[in-house]
Amino acid sequence: MVRRLGCKSVALDVVESVKSEVEDIVKKGFRAPSLAVILVGEDPASKTYVKNKTLRAKECGIVNYQHILCGETEEKELLDLIDSLNEDDGVDGILVQLPLPKHIDEKKVIERISPDKDVDGFTSENGGRLLKGEDGLFPCTPLGILETLRFYSIDTAGKDIAVVGRSNIVGKPIANLLMQKGYDGTVTVCNTKTQNLKAHLVDKDIVILAVGKPRMVDSSFIKDGAAVIDVGINRIEDRNSEKGFRLVGDADYESFKDRDVAITPVPGGIGLMTVALLMKNTVKAYRNRKGI
Ligand code: GUN
Repeated sequence: MVRRLGCKSVALDVVESVKSEVEDIVKKGFRAPSLAVILVGEDPASKTYVKNKTLRAKECGIVNYQHILCGETEEKELLDLIDSLNEDDGVDGILVQLPLPKHIDEKKVIERISPDKDVDGFTSENGGRLLKGEDGLFPCTPLGILETLRFYSIDTAGKDIAVVGRSNIVGKPIANLLMQKGYDGTVTVCNTKTQNLKAHLVDKDIVILAVGKPRMVDSSFIKDGAAVIDVGINRIEDRNSEKGFRLVGDADYESFKDRDVAITPVPGGIGLMTVALLMKNTVKAYRNRKGI
């Protein structure tokens, strides 16, 4: 029987621990940590993400500042806003919701965020710290994967691990985290051009899927006793659904139902972890800056 690694309780666990950490901070007489979220434009998915981040922050006792800018905002105005948030001692975390409108240089905007307030972990400075095994702020989804593995007591030390996908947000950072001291995995990184993907996955203890290709990996790719962490969130047409679509992962979940495999579902899986880890990163940024 498949073992479903649902992430609702994992995310709740993280949020509860952040909440009690914030309560402790405030009890000691310090101010609560704060997060500034910047949204440019009207993208409906981005609006939903920002709303979820705001609700979670509130739940954790984190002060939330929202900066909602219109889609025609000039790049300079956005950079000036980031400069002022960087200088504001009352702001601990800065997040610019992506994607940005096409006339704005996303890379330039991300790099403008002070690395010590970069709670998404997207700046080159934090990427470099991650690569070197130094402390820093690292991307939330990979951190969410680590929390999920810990919650379900899936050990990584000495394990053969495959990461499918090499994005800056998920593939590269999770591969780097897992190969570091403390996690001690033997990591193989595959991509969409990898020849005979199955040959790379069949002997792995842990397989992390982060490519964004609906149901590309079925149970024939995975050995008995392995764990699959499915980071893909893909829309596929579904005429029976009110919305006309449903969400599926990069794994063909149904094909695993009679297998001795542990697997995160979609929805209800890793997608729930990202915002929870954003809260944890915000408190970490606060503590690092304040030295408490
Ligand atoms: N857009 C989609 N996911 C993310 C994320 O994790 N952070 C930011 N800033 N924008 C996103």
